[in-house]
Amino acid sequence: MSKLFTPFKAGTLSLDHRIVMAPLTRLRSEPGDKAGALLCEYYTQRTSQGGLIISEATPVAREGYGYAGAPGIYEDAQIEGWRTVTDAVHAGGGKIVMQLWHVGRQSHPDLQPGGKAPVAPSAIQAEGDAYTPHGARPFSMPRALELQDIPAVIDQFHQGAVRAKAAGFDGVEIHGANGYLPDQFLQDGTNHRTDEYGGPIENRARFLLEITQAAIDVWGADRVGVRLSPSGTYGSMSDSTPQETFGYVAAKLGALSIAYLHVVEPRIKGTELISESKPVAAKHLRQHFRGTIIAAGGFTGESVEAILQAGDADAVAFGRTFISNPDLPDRLRHNLPLTPYDRTTFYGGGMHGYTDYLKAPTSD
Ligand SMILES: Cc1cc2nc3c(=O)[nH]c(=O)nc-3n(C[C@H](O)[C@H](O)[C@H](O)COP(=O)(O)O)c2cc1C
Repeated sequence: MSKLFTPFKAGTLSLDHRIVMAPLTRLRSEPGDKAGALLCEYYTQRTSQGGLIISEATPVAREGYGYAGAPGIYEDAQIEGWRTVTDAVHAGGGKIVMQLWHVGRQSHPDLQPGGKAPVAPSAIQAEGDAYTPHGARPFSMPRALELQDIPAVIDQFHQGAVRAKAAGFDGVEIHGANGYLPDQFLQDGTNHRTDEYGGPIENRARFLLEITQAAIDVWGADRVGVRLSPSGTYGSMSDSTPQETFGYVAAKLGALSIAYLHVVEPRIKGTELISESKPVAAKHLRQHFRGTIIAAGGFTGESVEAILQAGDADAVAFGRTFISNPDLPDRLRHNLPLTPYDRTTFYGGGMHGYTDYLKAPTSD
């Protein structure tokens, strides 16, 4: 029997089906980094009865920006726009959590307050480009966070969690994946610190665990999820013992009783499928984490059933197919053809490639 359309729980969130909308940066905010009417329409279109949406990554600080056009949650004026989104999703019978974001070194001075160098655990540069207001610019050399500056960054996550609550979200997800700041602390390729935030995994995991705790203090553990991308190479990431690193973190997050662990399979590099291999990461972390697991990365309607049946994941998040199929749960339920996505409209622009993908004729 198909498991995809059976209910499941992620912490206190009761969901009717196991098709989750993955976090998707689309860079269509309004001035002031606010969520506007177009963004609200996009999420409304992707709401399903009893379905879970994870918002696009949302910076908790101006220093957390690597992409101009991302809607923020770093000041109170941004709460109202997000409130229209959560109201719309709830009116459609869905649930939505906010993904809290800090890019760390994946940035450029043009995006930073005062034109400073971006922050990171260590001064090690990533390859790739930031999306500045003046176009793509190579990531710059970051400055290593001073030990005494780390509590302020943790507090930015705390404040983001407080504002997400004021905006009516159902919970928050810590973006610990894809080579952004928490991931930079976690992996030894990017963390060469010698203080209590560097060295052995117990120290490298400290930052992620502290920001997770900061969110738990606001929401309770049963409304906080964490996203990880074990062995992911996006953002020039590397670790000398990834199985141990991520196994340790998963066990620690399990001990915190978080609502869910969201695992990106390494066959995905950011937004691209780089191998046709079977999912491995969720299967591995399942041995260390007994709670709800959401798997992501390269899944299709057929391969979802296999991972659910194997028990390696409880739900699956879809990214690219949700962009071009706003009614994705309906399409999978009724075996309707999927609309292909257009990569050129992923980031920035207006409604084209954003809110003009149609629902299937037979969908509600
Ligand atoms: C346009 C685009 C934007 C993305 N933005 C985010 C993001 O904000 N946060 C995040 O954790 N992952 C982000 N991802 C990664 C997706 O959440 C997902 O892991 C990836 O697309 C693989 O899933 P898929 O094969 O179903 O597309 C993005 C992917 C795409 C295509």
